[in-house]
Amino acid sequence: MTKLSPSILAADPLRLGDALTLAYTTGCDELHFDVMDAHFVPNLSFGPALLSAMKKQQPDMVYDVHLMLSDPLQYVDVFAQAGANILTVHQEANDFEACIRRIRELGMQAGASLKPATPAQALQPWLAQLDRVLLMTVEPGFGGQKLMLDVLPKAQKLRQMGFADEIEADGGIGLSNMKLLADSGINVLVMGTAFFKAENPAGVAQAVHAL
Ligand code: DX5
Ligand code: ZN
Repeated sequence: MTKLSPSILAADPLRLGDALTLAYTTGCDELHFDVMDAHFVPNLSFGPALLSAMKKQQPDMVYDVHLMLSDPLQYVDVFAQAGANILTVHQEANDFEACIRRIRELGMQAGASLKPATPAQALQPWLAQLDRVLLMTVEPGFGGQKLMLDVLPKAQKLRQMGFADEIEADGGIGLSNMKLLADSGINVLVMGTAFFKAENPAGVAQAVHAL
């Protein structure tokens, strides 16, 4: 079954607790928590205090934390303590290998993310240590962008390279293109705008689970 991980980046910043409840009650599999440092990407988003508060409100939600930071290593322990279940760092960031090692030491699922221009081959040396690969289908930093279709072949490439765990895609995903991604071997869909700005978010979750 294809999983849905709605991104709170697209939720009303004044009502993030309600956004969490919506994700949970509509049966979303995870909550996608985009962390941005205004350096790796030209935007600034949420910190560990918000994640801790969400974990307290909904301890049994799966927190899918996406670090878009130039120096993520110093925040691996911080987001572990705040409640991350899956912690994803960019292969393009500093200390990538040390981050993956530390994420696994702390017992979280380890994810690696690739910007659109970074080829799947860049992850070859670490595939055996990864629980998940997150393919950015937009330039990271902002929600509401258009999906970049030329990223999709990376999913097949990862399978050819022997990666059998979860492939997640993030950016510009909605009802109109989600089947294309699922058919490309992508198991987890991040939806920000398409979920939190939907007329019927529950219907979006049902449609993803019916793929
Ligand atoms: C980009 C962000 C967005 C967000 C989803 O850095 O990671 O991709 O999660 O945005 P939508 O679904 O609104 O394109
Ligand atoms: Zn993300």
